[in-house]
Amino acid sequence: KSRRMVSVRAEAVNPEIRKTEDKVVDSVVVTELAKPVTAYCRCWRSGTFPLCDGAHMKHNKATGDNVGPLLLKKQ
Ligand code: FES
Repeated sequence: KSRRMVSVRAEAVNPEIRKTEDKVVDSVVVTELAKPVTAYCRCWRSGTFPLCDGAHMKHNKATGDNVGPLLLKKQ
């Protein structure tokens, strides 16, 4: 069985949103969640997509980008 290889170029995924911030992270407070905090990927580099696995840090360092996860926080 052959596997298709997909190459990803190192380039920013965020060309214009909140570029003065080191890392764009947003939080949503909700009352019904299984865990205290769940992070959702917004850089498209996570190995556990749609959950964030921290891959945005390598992406930001390689590209100068500033993307970060969306955090859902249990209240
Ligand atoms: Fe994509 Fe964290 S791995 S935002």
